[in-house]
Amino acid sequence: MQKTEQIEIRRGLKDVYLDTTEASFIDGEIGKLLYRGYSIHDLAEQSTFEEVSYLLLYGRLPTRAELEAFDAGLRAERAIPKEVVDIIDMVKASHPMDVLRTGVSALSAFDPEVRDNSIEATIRKGLRLTAKAPTIVATHERLRKGQRPVEPNLNLNHAGNFLSMLFDKEPSEEEAYIMDVDFILHAEHGANASAFAARVTASTQSDLHSAVVTGIATLKGPAHGGAAEDVMKMAEEIATPENAESYTRQLLESGGRVMGFGHRVYKAEDPRARHLRARSKDLGEKKGEPKWFQILSTLYDVMSPYQAKGIYVNVDFYAGSIYQLMGIPDDLFISLFALGRIPGWTLQVVEQFSNNILIRPLVQYTGPMDLEYVPIEKRG
Ligand code: CMC
Repeated sequence: MQKTEQIEIRRGLKDVYLDTTEASFIDGEIGKLLYRGYSIHDLAEQSTFEEVSYLLLYGRLPTRAELEAFDAGLRAERAIPKEVVDIIDMVKASHPMDVLRTGVSALSAFDPEVRDNSIEATIRKGLRLTAKAPTIVATHERLRKGQRPVEPNLNLNHAGNFLSMLFDKEPSEEEAYIMDVDFILHAEHGANASAFAARVTASTQSDLHSAVVTGIATLKGPAHGGAAEDVMKMAEEIATPENAESYTRQLLESGGRVMGFGHRVYKAEDPRARHLRARSKDLGEKKGEPKWFQILSTLYDVMSPYQAKGIYVNVDFYAGSIYQLMGIPDDLFISLFALGRIPGWTLQVVEQFSNNILIRPLVQYTGPMDLEYVPIEKRG
């Protein structure tokens, strides 16, 4: 007999606290997000991705001198080994997230501290991965289009350099700014699926590269990082603002989900969405393509009754339209999320290492018991 009465199963680990954290605070009921105690709104409006990365990794805002040294360290680590470029070239037909995962995995072979799991070395590796990951994504994009990879531009900030390597052209100030805000908004988000997966890997005393590979693999799915791409696929299918309402109603009636809506934790509007909404509207108008924002706005209106069920727009809803307006291909959208998230994954791994315990839950067995083993020749 199985003892089943006392077992409480929390499928999907919904509402389960795994540990404590000083990385980010989320109040899903009121849509509040803090990184290391600072409001996401202040950081999105006044900070930079470099400063936010420092904040996450070291736990406090840097002085000017500290930020300059940190930024110089990031710039110095942008190049990737030729062997990694060759590997990217070999797998260039794959999805950009598969290539990023493979590229990060390959970087572990060239990292001088790969097996050093001290907190200091893990932070240094996190800095190197933050700096090098955009080069992997941009190198892949160039190679798959039959173009030569673009060298990192040391005169540009993190976001600007990424766009310059992607398009072989210095981005406008506005585009570099929007990319920077986008990276800030994606930098950290508690025990989301990819950070949890990274923590599980770290909990076995594996290493940061392995944990980030796990994070990338987990972020890839449409229920997590893949939604921005799916939102734009939906917007492309809708094609005109006039079609948005009937499309959405049909999708909902057939039991489908409107991508970019809903969140496991937020039962109010995702506070990150506000910043991307404004950028999506402005950029669409400036580029003479207001239709994407108009389609998204109609979708927003059709979905408004669902707010009563706690279903609001999430960070991915407007992100895709911005990337599209910047000329970034659809299948690169999730990779942009991953580039922003590397400091957050690093911090989660650091927290796990700082007070490690093997993460090993239980699953309740519900299959048959004590079956008789029948030799193969006697099976019917
Ligand atoms: N469209 C329509 N209905 C929805 C949606 C949606 N996007 N999301 C949730 N629901 C409904 C769902 O059908 C269910 O209804 P009912 O109770 O009548 O069966 C109810 O809301 C609860 O859904 P759930 O799947 O149990 O909730 P969850 O917390 O497990 O799901 C989610 C969270 C993000 C997987 C889900 O909202 C979803 O699939 N959204 C679309 C994908 C998406 O935008 N993902 C990006 C998340 S934000 C980026 C990140 O941080 O990862």
